[in-house]
Amino acid sequence: MDKVAAVVLAAGQGKRMRSDIPKVLHRVAGAPLVRHVLDAIEEAGIKEIIVVIGQGAEMVRETLGTDYTYALQEKQLGTGDAVLKALPYLSADCRDVLVVCGDTPLLTADTLVKVIREQQNTGSAAAVLTSIFDDPKGYGRIIRDKDGFVDAIIEDCDATAEQKEIKEINTGTYAFTKKALEDTIHRLNPDNKQGEYYLTDCIHLLREDGQLVTAVIAPAQETKGINDRAQLAAAEKLLRQRECRRLMDAGVTILDPATTYIDKGVRVGRDTVIYPFTFLEGKTEVGPRCTLGPGSRLIDARLGEGVAVQFSIVVDTNIGDHCQIGPYAYLRPGNKLADHVKVGDFVELKKATVGSRSKIPHLSYVGDTIVGEGVNIGAGTITCNYDGVKKYQTVIEDGVFVGSNTNLVAPVRVGKDAVIGAGSTITKDVPSASLAIERNKQTIIPDWKEKKKRKGD
Ligand code: UD1
Ligand code: CA
Repeated sequence: MDKVAAVVLAAGQGKRMRSDIPKVLHRVAGAPLVRHVLDAIEEAGIKEIIVVIGQGAEMVRETLGTDYTYALQEKQLGTGDAVLKALPYLSADCRDVLVVCGDTPLLTADTLVKVIREQQNTGSAAAVLTSIFDDPKGYGRIIRDKDGFVDAIIEDCDATAEQKEIKEINTGTYAFTKKALEDTIHRLNPDNKQGEYYLTDCIHLLREDGQLVTAVIAPAQETKGINDRAQLAAAEKLLRQRECRRLMDAGVTILDPATTYIDKGVRVGRDTVIYPFTFLEGKTEVGPRCTLGPGSRLIDARLGEGVAVQFSIVVDTNIGDHCQIGPYAYLRPGNKLADHVKVGDFVELKKATVGSRSKIPHLSYVGDTIVGEGVNIGAGTITCNYDGVKKYQTVIEDGVFVGSNTNLVAPVRVGKDAVIGAGSTITKDVPSASLAIERNKQTIIPDWKEKKKRKGD
């Protein structure tokens, strides 16, 4: 994509969203609308990208980062004005310009390439990406001449009753030669129902100049713009389906794509099986032969091979091979689990490093802790890592056996192969291979019930 630049229109507020945040920052499939557009542009091989921002400009700029050039459109005077604001930023050797709206997240790189190639290969001044909609209401209509070339685009509100019957619509994506934009954009005027500078008017100006304008028809599924929350939900569904399809094509079994929510870019290895109501979000990477779900949420999680996670939440955590997580485990950020680790029901981990073959099978909180290899942590073990002011660390060395219902008051270290008796509150370090037990001697009062009864009489 040499000498091709992209201009992304993202300055509008999106009134119909009824929102305090700019429309293009609303999220689908885990990413802002405009991010999907930018990804498609980059995937199409375009490196020079100018984003036109206006409403919530700072928020948009902050969200998207420094990889793009930003053109500021202070007043939203229309799509033509938005492109006008971007022109000064185009590099000297840019020849063609792809214009895309920031609110069309379903567009694919393939389609963008098609529009550009159509414009380049036909030698036309512009190629318009169009679609055939059963209900074209609200969209600009494509007016073709008798030879099938595009003659004009008429906005819905400016269209005659006859023009409104046309089902071919303007998707808001175009490939122009830079020269075509430079020749026409200054001649736009706001003489229309909305009083805006329409980019779409450039098309008819080009025809008046005797230039050619062609079109590429894209599937309706790809070209829907997002203007309200209902369209946002519809796009969400389509994008999710696409992500599930991508993983299935790569050898992942998904029992029910309709109830599986996978963010764009999530990686999953072959022969992993995903059960319903599972969410894979952010930068999650899952190895091969894992079993995920039912009912699990993985956010920025990294899993090795053969890991099973069910009814659990895993956040920013590394999990080695053949680990078992859940049901009902909550792995908060910062954990590192080696291979063959078991984290069972009602266990919460936070900033815990757990060595291979160690088990935390039930009802425990392990935080700010290093657990060695082959450790068994009994039910109801709590690392008391917080004194109300500061957090402290617990170290449990290899081979330790922690009896049930133990409190480990940090900072504390339990030496290699030590054993802790059930019900102990451990406040001092435990030397290796020793037994630590902290518990009152059990008292037995024989025939207590009998005595009590007699006393009461
Ligand atoms: C536009 C097209 C219409 C097409 C439709 C496809 C025009 C005049 N009309 O209409 O033919 O069918 O898209 O979705 O172009 N924007 C700016 N600055 C502005 C105005 C808009 O950056 O001053 C941006 C918006 O943020 C948005 C995009 O341009 O991302 C499209 O604007 P929008 O108001 O949604 O245009 P439509 O009326 O939908
Ligand atoms: Ca729109």
